[in-house]
Amino acid sequence: MRALLLLEPLFSSADGGRGSAGIDVEEELAEETWLEIKEETLDFADELREQAIEAMVKRGFPFDKEPGVKDSFDFAQAYRSTISTSSFMAEGSVDRGSPDRLQTTHAEEAGGVGDVEDEVEDKSKVVDPLFPDDLDHIPYSRPRLSPEESIKKSKEFYELMDTRRSVRFFSADPVPREVIENVVRTAGTSPSGAHTEPWTFAVVGDPEVKQRVREIVEEEEEINYKKRMGNQWVQDLKALRTSWVKEYLTTAPWLILVFKQTYGMLPDGRKRNHYYHEISTALAGGILLSAIHNAGLVTLTSTPLNCGPALRTLLNRPPNEKLLLLLPVGFPSDEATVPDLKRKPLEDIMVVV
Ligand SMILES: Cc1cc2nc3c(=O)[nH]c(=O)nc-3n(C[C@H](O)[C@H](O)[C@H](O)COP(=O)(O)O)c2cc1C
Repeated sequence: MRALLLLEPLFSSADGGRGSAGIDVEEELAEETWLEIKEETLDFADELREQAIEAMVKRGFPFDKEPGVKDSFDFAQAYRSTISTSSFMAEGSVDRGSPDRLQTTHAEEAGGVGDVEDEVEDKSKVVDPLFPDDLDHIPYSRPRLSPEESIKKSKEFYELMDTRRSVRFFSADPVPREVIENVVRTAGTSPSGAHTEPWTFAVVGDPEVKQRVREIVEEEEEINYKKRMGNQWVQDLKALRTSWVKEYLTTAPWLILVFKQTYGMLPDGRKRNHYYHEISTALAGGILLSAIHNAGLVTLTSTPLNCGPALRTLLNRPPNEKLLLLLPVGFPSDEATVPDLKRKPLEDIMVVV
C-alpha cells in the first residue's frame, strides 16, 4: 500500500502561515503498523501544538482579550482541532484514514480528553469512575532520616546507579524467575496517570519464543539500519557498535517486553481512558531498569522500530497494548564490553532557580 499523510498543525493560522508535515510511505504496511504511524504523527502534532502555545505566550499573545483564540488552544479543543485540520489520503483498498478514524485514535491516545462532547452525547461511552467517591484516605509517613543519613543514602544510591550500563553481550547463565517477578513487581509500584497502571510486562524465558522475537527484530532492524534510520542516525550509533544482529535476544535468559496500554478494556467491552499512558509506562520502565540493576543483573534498553505489531501478535497481546521497550535481562558475558561514555556533570543537567 502506498499512502501519503498530510498534517496541518491546528495553529497554522497563529503566525499567518500554514505548515504541513508529509510522510510518503512506499512500503506494504500492516494495518497495525499503519495505526502506529498515525499515532506517532499525532504525537508529533501535539509537540507542535505545545511549541506554538509556548511561542505565543512568550510573545505576550493577549489570550485574555481574544477568548476565541484561547478556547481553540484549550487542551481538549486543541486535540479536536488538530484532527479536524488534518487531511489524510490513502491510495489503497482499505479505508484507513478517514478523519473520524484519526479522531478516535487520537482521542484514545490523549486519554479521551478530546472526546468529551461525544461522551456526553453517547451515554454508552461513560464508564464508572475508577474509584468510589468515598475511597479511604489512610495515614502515610516514612522514617525520617537525619540530613547526614539522607546524604549518605542518596550518595550510595547514586553510586550504585552510576554503575548501570546498557549491555549488549549476555551470558546464558540462568536467573531465577523469582528475581524477574520481584523486579516487575517493583516496576508496578510506579506512579501512573489517575492510577490507571497502564502497563503490561510480558516476560519471555522460552528459548523458542526468544528465537522468534530475535527473528522478528533482526528482520525489521536490518531494514531500519539500511533504509529507515537515515545516515545521521546510523552514524550516531556507529561508535556504540550496535547493529541489526541481536544475539543477546536469544542468549539472555529472560526478555521483558514492556507494553503501554493505550486504553483499558472493561469486562463489557467498553474502553476506559488511560491518561498519560506513555509517560506512565516510561516511568515504570525507569523503575524496572533500576530494579534490574539493583538485583545485580544487566539489561539493554531497546526500542525496536516497527517491530511492535509483530511482537504483540507473537505474544498474544491485545490491540490496546503497544510495545514500548524490549529488555533482555541476565548477566553480562565474560567478554562483555561497553562504550566508554561519560555522563554530563551535575552543573550541565541541573539549574537552581
Ligand atoms: C529510549 C531508548 C532507546 C534505546 N534503544 C536502543 C536500541 O534500540 N539498541 C541499543 O543497542 N541501545 C539502545 N539504547 C541504549 C542507549 O544507546 C544507551 O542508553 C546509551 O548509549 C547510554 O549508555 P548507557 O545506558 O550504558 O548509560 C536505547 C536507550 C534508550 C533510553
